[in-house]
Amino acid sequence: MNLGYIMPFVVALSGGIASGKTTIANLFAKLGVPIIDADLIARQVVAPDSAAFVEIVHHFSDEILLPTGELDRSQLREIIFNNDHERLWLNSLLHPLIASETSKQIAEINAPYLLWVIPLLIENRLTSFADRILIIETSPILQLERLIMRDHIDEPLAMKMVQAQTSNEKRLAFANDVIKNEGNLADLANQVAKLHQHYLMLFN
Ligand SMILES: Nc1ncnc2c1ncn2[C@@H]1O[C@H](COP(=O)(O)OP(=O)(O)O)[C@@H](O)[C@H]1O
Ligand SMILES: [Mg+2]
Repeated sequence: MNLGYIMPFVVALSGGIASGKTTIANLFAKLGVPIIDADLIARQVVAPDSAAFVEIVHHFSDEILLPTGELDRSQLREIIFNNDHERLWLNSLLHPLIASETSKQIAEINAPYLLWVIPLLIENRLTSFADRILIIETSPILQLERLIMRDHIDEPLAMKMVQAQTSNEKRLAFANDVIKNEGNLADLANQVAKLHQHYLMLFN
């Protein structure tokens, strides 16, 4: 029997910082679900010598480069954070490239569905690109604890990072499915296995 899928369904996975996106994506991957990582694509489209890389260096001069020759992404973030004109310029350059690279990667996948890990799904208004939205619910206190442990940063900084983001309530308003990541890893794996069965039923 030929199980060729024309286009996989897209399940968008989103949640706040240290809510468990990477951990949960790894659990889906272990079950054989293909993963598309939006952060990775955002880096791929500006890889050294890509068309976007050349345009960005032309626009900002080579002061936007790290000694390694790669884009200094934190300097770029700083610039666009403080300058709407530059932010719009960069967005209009990168958004079409990111969108076409994402579609290309999706089209290459042969599976009933894939997991699209997209931290800024709500902030960047990308919900219409998903067939289904899976939101991680983790209390801000737990996010804070896990962020401090993972990144070895102090509490005030971690607090700022959590508070700078869209609230869990706003994200949850878009959810078709929710994973509550407040238990142990076995509990998490259990929720992922159940959702996977659910998605296979929905998308097959
Ligand atoms: N259920 C859990 N129990 C214990 N630690 C967890 C759990 N879920 C995630 N973590 C840990 O919390 C941290 C943040 O999770 P991570 O998956 O990196 O979040 P994100 O990718 O959303 O930023 C990591 O160190 C991870 O190992
Ligand atoms: Mg992560």
